[in-house]
Amino acid sequence: MQELEIAQLRALTDLLKSKYNYNFTDYAMSSFRRRIQRIIELYKFSSFDALLQKLNLGNQEFFHEFLSEITVNVTEMFRDPTFWIEIREKILPDLLNLNKTISIWHAGCSSGEEVLSMAILLREMGIEGRVRIVATDIDMAILKKAKEPVYSVKNMELNTKNYERAKGPHTLDRYYEEKSGKAYLDKSLLKDVIFREHNLVEGQVFSKFDLILCRNVMIYFNQSLQNQVLKVFHESLFKNSYLAVGSKESLIWCEIANKFLVVNNEEKIYKKIKD
Ligand SMILES: C[S@@+](CC[C@H](N)C(=O)[O-])C[C@H]1O[C@@H](n2cnc3c(N)ncnc32)[C@H](O)[C@@H]1O
Repeated sequence: MQELEIAQLRALTDLLKSKYNYNFTDYAMSSFRRRIQRIIELYKFSSFDALLQKLNLGNQEFFHEFLSEITVNVTEMFRDPTFWIEIREKILPDLLNLNKTISIWHAGCSSGEEVLSMAILLREMGIEGRVRIVATDIDMAILKKAKEPVYSVKNMELNTKNYERAKGPHTLDRYYEEKSGKAYLDKSLLKDVIFREHNLVEGQVFSKFDLILCRNVMIYFNQSLQNQVLKVFHESLFKNSYLAVGSKESLIWCEIANKFLVVNNEEKIYKKIKD
């Protein structure tokens, strides 16, 4: 298939904005283009225009399938295991030293593996009751999966390895039951987690947090959108609280870099030091 032209992508983002009120204008062009091309192949559209026509019909069901395809949902439990060691040994103790209760926001939580990792960590540290978790994503379908976590046994192999590398004190299988080739995660881990739809593009501050995790989400945004979203995170954090981004991301170039201190450069953990 011929590479889609910028004008075509613009026609698509204009349509998504006017018809569905979703703004993808500032998603990183190359990965956005690849996702669109993938959707055309997956749904066997005869051409780009055929996809445009389908979207123009305003069918919400198709749009939500489209939305799920356009966003990349790849995730793991205890992804980047050393990150979780830092969260367990330094970040949470520091926050709980200063505060009786704390709030954590998982922005772009996908199918919930990151949230479950946090919930397991909190249970193992015996601090579940002191932490409020809010988990958000743009994609309603993936949030539904996050609320009812059932993963493939194959994925659990990787999750288990990560848990071991993150120095988990038990074995991960205490948190799930295997039935018919699927792993059913212990839902009680999520009993106090609030899942909600939230689009980072809209720039809405809805609460204040002590720790925000937004890992492997902003890599799909262009620099201007990353700056905009980072401002939202800055506003959503209490002073002396933390922001964590993905291992291939960084804050050092961004417009509000001087308002953060690099706490751990390897694990991409930053502390808000200025309002
Ligand atoms: C690659 S996953 C990252 C999951 C997890 N944070 C991790 O690091 O494993 C990216 C997630 O970001 C979500 N996402 C993409 N654009 C978003 C937006 N504008 N607002 C909120 N979430 C978004 C996607 O739906 C997807 O679930």
